[in-house]
Amino acid sequence: MKSRFENDMGYSEVTPKSVWLNRRDLLKSAGGATIAASIAGLANGATFEASKSIYSTDEELNDFEDITSYNNFYEFGTGKGDPARYAGELTTEPWSVVIDGMVENPGTYSYEDILSGAALEERIYRLRCVEAWSMVIPWIGFELGHLLKRAVPEPSAKFVAFETLVRPEEMRGQRSRFLLEWPYREGLRLDEAMNPLTILAVGLYGEELPNQNGAPIRLVVPWKYGFKSIKSIVRITLTDFQPPTTWNMQAPGEYGFYSNVNPLVDHPRWSQATERRVGSGLFARRMETQMFNGYEEYVAGLYEGMDLSTNY
Ligand code: MTE
Repeated sequence: MKSRFENDMGYSEVTPKSVWLNRRDLLKSAGGATIAASIAGLANGATFEASKSIYSTDEELNDFEDITSYNNFYEFGTGKGDPARYAGELTTEPWSVVIDGMVENPGTYSYEDILSGAALEERIYRLRCVEAWSMVIPWIGFELGHLLKRAVPEPSAKFVAFETLVRPEEMRGQRSRFLLEWPYREGLRLDEAMNPLTILAVGLYGEELPNQNGAPIRLVVPWKYGFKSIKSIVRITLTDFQPPTTWNMQAPGEYGFYSNVNPLVDHPRWSQATERRVGSGLFARRMETQMFNGYEEYVAGLYEGMDLSTNY
């Protein structure tokens, strides 16, 4: 089946106003970091206090409007504006994540339980989509490795598989079986999952994650193409085999399991050497794509011996 990704679809499809989501408005405490109800009148939702991180870039941020109105989230449709238009239909409370497979502490972890054990940080990361556009996003999240350690991976576990929620009543894109095979699935090697750059995000711009960005909890793997950063996660499974992943199953000749950002290896239908930074106006700023999306110093060691001119 042909992949539905297209190169850099253009900014005209963006809906002007993002959909605002259900927000938790109670005061909560998350392991040292405080989630405080925001000042009445400024916003309805909860805001996060999080510490800064050495892994953040100091590049210019995309604004909240860009980040929440130009999205890929096929569960709500294929248009860039569909997630902002329809993701408000998803109920994100209550939420829990099953952690199972090769772990010593399998179980169902509630969103609140996950947050209570989390050291929240702001991570300002570049996000490079395989379609050759990019953004700079100030995520709020915590290292996936910390959650995996709570579940205690067995010594023979080698990979981590992730699944998004299936709820066609609220996710209109899932009413079509022809769009993608649901649930949306992704996977990482265990050492990639344990790398400190790999986070589970629960917010952006200091506020809870908008639904269109993968509320209430999504993966962010900044050195890989954006489709690896799976949204609205309900299951994390440790395995000893490479798990099947959505875009790789859909078009294996176009999307590899690893899918590390690599300007040297073109997509069969377009170049990956450059990217368009979303939001840079009429004179869209094209910039050179960096190896591992600029995170080479932190992750190159994971791929020693891999031929970077052919592998992706
Ligand atoms: N996760 C799910 N469940 N479904 C999707 O369609 N799209 C991916 C990824 N995660 C997707 C997903 C793609 S292609 C990209 S580029 C990023 O989400 C976009 O994240 P953003 O909309 O927050 O920028």
